[in-house]
Amino acid sequence: MSEWTFVCATGQLLPGEKAVAWADDTPILVVNLDGELYALEDRCTHDEFELSSGDIDPVEGSITCVLHGARFDLREGTALCAPAYEPVAKFPVKIEHGGIWVRDDR
Ligand code: FES
Repeated sequence: MSEWTFVCATGQLLPGEKAVAWADDTPILVVNLDGELYALEDRCTHDEFELSSGDIDPVEGSITCVLHGARFDLREGTALCAPAYEPVAKFPVKIEHGGIWVRDDR
């Protein structure tokens, strides 16, 4: 389990935007979805490509992997379509001292 890792100041991640931070060896994607923050492992479960390169669909609350088109639910990490079937790991995210923080709690 990692310590809390600083991502960015809260004002730097506006609705619809994403950021990536590393918690030890784990890349974590943080997304502001309509004012709510969600943190997922930045690795597609199909072939480990970085999810952060993909586009966010704010209506569905999903992100699409640019490599082969798998889609994941940003709130839960669930795989929504092939070729990915396993969920991506979901991590805790908090706001403290004006910043956004994440942690790999596995
Ligand atoms: S690596 Fe993401 S869909 Fe294949």
